[in-house]
Amino acid sequence: MSGSGQRSVVAACVECTLSGDIPGNHRAFLSNSPSFLTMYPPITPQTADFIHRLPKTETHLHIEGALPYQLLQQLDPERFSQPQACWAQDFKWQCFEDFEHHLIEHAMQWFTTPERYYEAAKVIFAGQLAQNIRYVETSFHAGMIQFLGIPGPEILAAIHSAVPAGLEVRVFMGMARDSYNEVLGPVLDDCVEWDGLAGLDLHGVEYLPLEAWTPRLWAKARAAGLTTKAHAGEFGPAANVREAIELLGVQRIQHGVRAIEDAAVVDLAIASGATFDLCPISNVKLNVVQELEAHPIRQFFDRGLRCTISTDDPFSFGNTVEDEYAALSSGLQFSHQELAQIAKNGFEVAQLDAATRTKCIAEVDAVVADFEG
Ligand code: ADE
Ligand code: ZN
Repeated sequence: MSGSGQRSVVAACVECTLSGDIPGNHRAFLSNSPSFLTMYPPITPQTADFIHRLPKTETHLHIEGALPYQLLQQLDPERFSQPQACWAQDFKWQCFEDFEHHLIEHAMQWFTTPERYYEAAKVIFAGQLAQNIRYVETSFHAGMIQFLGIPGPEILAAIHSAVPAGLEVRVFMGMARDSYNEVLGPVLDDCVEWDGLAGLDLHGVEYLPLEAWTPRLWAKARAAGLTTKAHAGEFGPAANVREAIELLGVQRIQHGVRAIEDAAVVDLAIASGATFDLCPISNVKLNVVQELEAHPIRQFFDRGLRCTISTDDPFSFGNTVEDEYAALSSGLQFSHQELAQIAKNGFEVAQLDAATRTKCIAEVDAVVADFEG
């Protein structure tokens, strides 16, 4: 596990210089015709087909971190003519700050208006439908309201208006541990009333302390019927996961990887009914775990902790949800049944009506039965 707040000495992946062989997932970004399952071979064609046919969810996705590369290419074909180096399977970010800097630098070039959120969301959602993803939870960063001077409800409405038939999307607002300032404070106080806001997420650098406004706002959001999440146990210790559950009151932990360092925290997460929305490829590329094979999702899953899988920031990792499933299969020996359980977990925590939830879960079971029969 790497420490937080560690400064890099080497600048990483500022400009893409990758050339020659372009792995399939890079092609997917370039052409928007997804060609997945190239990240952690080998998986059999049967398993690739099984993964594709599983109805899936994606419940941990930062929309700015999902910026489709082809949109940047449209803006500046020459500058963005090559795939990004950070999409290579063995690429590692030097530290969270390098990763975040790269992401912000690129996202700011695209996300300048609500219409740009709409255009990006259209492409993102089409890519998810192509992977047989049926339900998505995505967050936009509250800081963009301040940077761009755009009201949050306009960003929210733009994302919602891009949702295609066949996909259910819930939109969250993400904020950093120090986001409550003179400009954003009143916005955050008000946001639980916004039409169409599904919930709140706490993200950004994890070493900052939890400030008093956060548990207050999280409780207010839940009282208003919203879902609350928090990034914890990614770069911070297991104690941050305990804090997120006990102090913030969240049941949806984003990452939670480092809970593995304290068995009592894993027990607490299970007993409290928490779900960990994990992103194994993000965790490898950000050095939260050294290698996929060391990822604790296998232990969490075996102990009965509800886990889901998502991409986190595909712009910076070059991954897809199907890559994440393939990674569990080839790197952590998840069986078809176990992959199906991961998919079902996503639908179990989804904000869906009972009939839709039951139907999606039954479809997962039908795919398993079809493959076993
Ligand atoms: N914001 C975008 N990606 C993030 C991550 N992996 N951790 C914390 N904050 C983030
Ligand atoms: Zn995240």
